[in-house]
Amino acid sequence: MSDTSIIADQAAGRIVVIGGGASGLSCAWRLAGAGLKVTLIEAGEPGGGALHASGGMLAAGFESAVELQPDHLLASAFVRFAEAASDLWPGWAERLQAESGRALGYERRGSIIPIFTAEESERAAAAMDRARALGIETSRYDAAALHEAEPSLARALGAIVFPRDGQVDNRALGKALTEAARGRGVDIIKGRSVTGLERSAGRVTGVTLDLGDPVDAEAVILASGTGAISGAPPVMAMEPVKGQMIAFAAARPVAPAHVVRGFSIYLAAKPGTRLVAGATSEPGVEDPGTDDEAIARLTAAARAAIPGLVAAPVMERWAGLRPRTADSMPVIGEVEPGLLAAGGGYRNGVLLAPAIAEALAAYLGVGEDWPSAAPFSPRRPGLTGAER
Ligand code: GLY
Repeated sequence: MSDTSIIADQAAGRIVVIGGGASGLSCAWRLAGAGLKVTLIEAGEPGGGALHASGGMLAAGFESAVELQPDHLLASAFVRFAEAASDLWPGWAERLQAESGRALGYERRGSIIPIFTAEESERAAAAMDRARALGIETSRYDAAALHEAEPSLARALGAIVFPRDGQVDNRALGKALTEAARGRGVDIIKGRSVTGLERSAGRVTGVTLDLGDPVDAEAVILASGTGAISGAPPVMAMEPVKGQMIAFAAARPVAPAHVVRGFSIYLAAKPGTRLVAGATSEPGVEDPGTDDEAIARLTAAARAAIPGLVAAPVMERWAGLRPRTADSMPVIGEVEPGLLAAGGGYRNGVLLAPAIAEALAAYLGVGEDWPSAAPFSPRRPGLTGAER
């Protein structure tokens, strides 16, 4: 990447990562593994925030064919980047499990989108067409094949399947990344916030913490999600898109064997008896609480999809804030000399984290080139205003 040389010769110094979510922790772990000295600063708990709140979806296929705005300027670039991230996951999960000694609940059994109504049938056909146009693998189940594959589901007309999708236990992932990063020598400062960026001679040279203490850096990586950092350029502003979720206490055979992605709900069985169901999408809402009406809707939609859940208690309800950039795409690369972006994961922060970390390793001169990250430069027109 063209910016690499700006940083590469200075990579022997300290890298400060702001934010201990999926992206920040992955960057810290990856860079420390390449021999860089890394300090990670997290205002709360590492592995908390949006990572803790997420559904752990690794759904490059579903997100590209169903959620992605088809005419988005970066639609094809997103598909390439998401697939590259998806391909990194098996190796990442294996290394992380080995280093942390923690089971990640990583699986890639595909996601199933059941079709219950004629309207959903039309949406499924459109999703199949879009998937074909984007080169995404899909297949179909008729009603009998779906019942055989996922007997817990209510009787449906059929389903479409994204066989390369998967999931991870996001909460185990947060802990594993934190432990593995520490194991590689990352200095994690938690419970402290960054109050400003230090600049000297036209480059960012470090950060200031809440007690006024400075931390010098050769490069600062911004991975703070919806948490605004004073002095960060406007392209790094993230709109929160709140997602409320619930978890049922349910084991197989009531809990589905695959990730189920309905058009109005998704369900993913985590290790043990935790079946998570999500999620609302509430742009601009910062309040991290849940409300009874949204939770009742999620509960009813989950029980309509899987009737056996009628007898299963809702054991937890919570919300998280997805960080969305001005054009809803991730932001990766040099913002200004000494300042790198690693964020904007929005609906796909967990999926994209390994690819964001590889791209940052390339920018810092300690990894192979990651051309699929180039379209997500902080300098792209969609963020700077030219094509919004
Ligand atoms: N990745 C699914 C969501 O953001 O709800």
